Amino acid sequence: MTVSAAPTGPTLQDQAPLLLSQIAGYVGHRTVALGLRSGLLDRLAAAGAATPDDLAETLDLDPFYVSVWCRSALAAGVCERDGEAYRLAPHMATLLLDTTSPGYVGGVFAVLEQHEVFDRFEQVLASGERLWWDETSPEWIAGVAGTGTPFYTRLVPGGLAQVPGLAERLAAGCRIVDTACGAGAGVVRLAQTYPECEVVGVDGDGHSLDLARERVEQAGVAGRTAFVHSPLEEMALAEPATVVINNISMHECRDIDAVTRNVKAALEPGGWFVISDFPFPDTDEGLRSVPGRIMCGIQFFEAQIDDQLLPRAAYDDLLGRHGFTDLGAVTLTPVHAVTYGRA
Ligand SMILES: C[S@@+](CC[C@H](N)C(=O)[O-])C[C@H]1O[C@@H](n2cnc3c(N)ncnc32)[C@H](O)[C@@H]1O
Repeated sequence: MTVSAAPTGPTLQDQAPLLLSQIAGYVGHRTVALGLRSGLLDRLAAAGAATPDDLAETLDLDPFYVSVWCRSALAAGVCERDGEAYRLAPHMATLLLDTTSPGYVGGVFAVLEQHEVFDRFEQVLASGERLWWDETSPEWIAGVAGTGTPFYTRLVPGGLAQVPGLAERLAAGCRIVDTACGAGAGVVRLAQTYPECEVVGVDGDGHSLDLARERVEQAGVAGRTAFVHSPLEEMALAEPATVVINNISMHECRDIDAVTRNVKAALEPGGWFVISDFPFPDTDEGLRSVPGRIMCGIQFFEAQIDDQLLPRAAYDDLLGRHGFTDLGAVTLTPVHAVTYGRA
């Protein structure tokens, strides 16, 4: 009688680290988010180096608790230590605190901890109850604006400069429409970057538009900007645009074909539609990459507003079936791709 060999495969010891690394990531995430909210990261950036006692005194926090946070920040690689003093590891100040940097990721920590991502998802897991933007909290809207800002920073002007022929038109002056403009960070950036252009922001959420109007006033560009409160599925603009942008929102549209038809109708002949969005992985390997895993986190919120992030190639198909020409795409980071075409 032959005895069959035991099936080979990973051992329990092989598999356990997979789970333990998730727990370690959770601890690192909470440490960074807490450091951002409490001002500990800001203070370390300003001080250069500081002991837990210095930090606690300046921020009026408990010294023992601050020492616990510092050690965890060291463990996460966010801080380094020199004797008793801690300082931020290289580039952490830029990545976590500089909202003007194209590499800014600090906003993502705040967003993923909001009720609207995991907590509400779990509450409605059985009922499947959906949500719309006007039911989200002001903290959520502010958090989303923080996450969208580096996307605009990379897109304007760097990403747009990679769309053939577009930079010249923007420099000369033309009409730009930012569809799903949200709280207006992009409208301000576009108006400031292209002083000869007029910028129109369109969004379906009134609260976001109120914030956007305040933002353009504060930035001193209100005279060259205008806002339209409308679902993109019903968007009808009075004057033709040279370029229509959509930043991290195209995947959210309930009917992307209706929106694309409206965008085409809003463009002058030869005008550009530029879709800047998360390129959701279309392979299991891509899903398991770090960017893929982060985008899986975003999908928990997207599901509640009844959509999902899309693979970038879906936008080639979309623009192609609506007769856009000169299609092209640029990858700006592993979580940010730009797809464009001409009307
Ligand atoms: C993720 S936020 C992005 C906002 C902004 N583009 C940014 O990057 O900060 C999505 C925005 O799209 C708007 N939105 C989503 N679907 C829409 C639709 N079908 N019509 C109009 N606005 C829509 C929401 O109201 C929200 O302000």
